[in-house]
Amino acid sequence: MRSIRLISAASLLIAVPALSMADTTQGANDEAKALIQQFASSLKTELVSAMKAGGPVNAVAVCQDKAPAIANSLSETSDWEIGRTSLKTRNASNAPDAWEKQTLEQFEARKAAGKPVEGMSYSEVVETDGQKVYRYMMAIPTQEVCLACHGSDLMPELTAAIDEAYPADQARGYSAGDIRGAFTLSKPL
Ligand code: HEC
Repeated sequence: MRSIRLISAASLLIAVPALSMADTTQGANDEAKALIQQFASSLKTELVSAMKAGGPVNAVAVCQDKAPAIANSLSETSDWEIGRTSLKTRNASNAPDAWEKQTLEQFEARKAAGKPVEGMSYSEVVETDGQKVYRYMMAIPTQEVCLACHGSDLMPELTAAIDEAYPADQARGYSAGDIRGAFTLSKPL
């Protein structure tokens, strides 16, 4: 018994320094992915039920209110800041910072090189003002259901509702399969 304990204690000692950056990265990426899953599924539930209840015009307000609300509540209940961004935003407050813009451009380059958009992600430890921050992004593919509000051929009443809420909207003209944007997460290390 005693020797087994000794062995396991010794292997623990070895295991701790062996917890390399790769393991930390794996753990952080798994956390980020789990949060994205929650964000995406909550949003999709809200979107689908709003579309069913009152059509896409009604769903515009739901996107406007619920997307930031879900992001805020996930940010409050985790160590992470979570949001969505894009190279062409609807809501300017989702505009990318320099690192996000670079990552979105990298995603476009990977897509152009034939890589699948689904599951495309990137993570990096960046240092801002002496604080190390772990950053993670995952691309959001444009699906058919998104085209009602982000496609090229919007219903006139939808165009009116979006124009009113977002006079500087850039998030139209997408096709299915395009990168609509990305989930963006960060946490201080
Ligand atoms: C009913 C209309 C509607 C539909 C359908 C819709 N969106 Fe949006 N989308 C919006 C609105 C409104 C916003 C702005 C939300 C805000 O103010 O934060 C938005 C914002 C976004 C953003 C954040 C970046 C930005 O442009 O400000 C992403 C990413 C996004 N949508 C992706 C999608 C995807 C992917 C789908 C399909 C699964 C989808 N949307 C379907 C209306 C819609």
